[in-house]
Amino acid sequence: MTNVDISLTVNGTAQELSVEPRTLLAHALRDELGITGTNIGCESGRCGACTVHLDGSAVKSCTLLAVQADEREITTVEGLATDGELHPVQEAFNEEHGLQCGYCTPGMLLTSTALIEREETLDEESIREGIYGNLCRCTGYQNIVEAVETAQSRMEDDQ
Ligand code: FES
Ligand code: FES
Repeated sequence: MTNVDISLTVNGTAQELSVEPRTLLAHALRDELGITGTNIGCESGRCGACTVHLDGSAVKSCTLLAVQADEREITTVEGLATDGELHPVQEAFNEEHGLQCGYCTPGMLLTSTALIEREETLDEESIREGIYGNLCRCTGYQNIVEAVETAQSRMEDDQ
């Protein structure tokens, strides 16, 4: 199969790579670029472990081909912190114990960040609805919901 040259901006850094047309974005990030914070669970769009931001929106990177991300901006969990400072969502997950094994956490963080940035007000019900596509086997979700509420109030205060 003939490879295709694509250009991605990942966490603010321009990346040029050559991929097979069938390569999933999740695999391009992990295997071609070595950016392994994006986890892979189901590889079929159900678990959300592979969630990244594509031009600011949360997407499941196992449901996109890498070539569909050509010339676009991607943020992975490695790009959430700035200058060594955790993103407010990362801080809140840490403080509220919103993780246990951590496998779902990169995807939860990216989904939650996009949710907070997209919605003006979030209550427990809308947070649960917003993270519906991200599965967690460990936490029972309650602490994740509390972490998102905490992060939202801090991000509002910062505006
Ligand atoms: Fe992409 Fe499960 S690995 S949704
Ligand atoms: Fe283990 Fe969510 S913390 S799957």
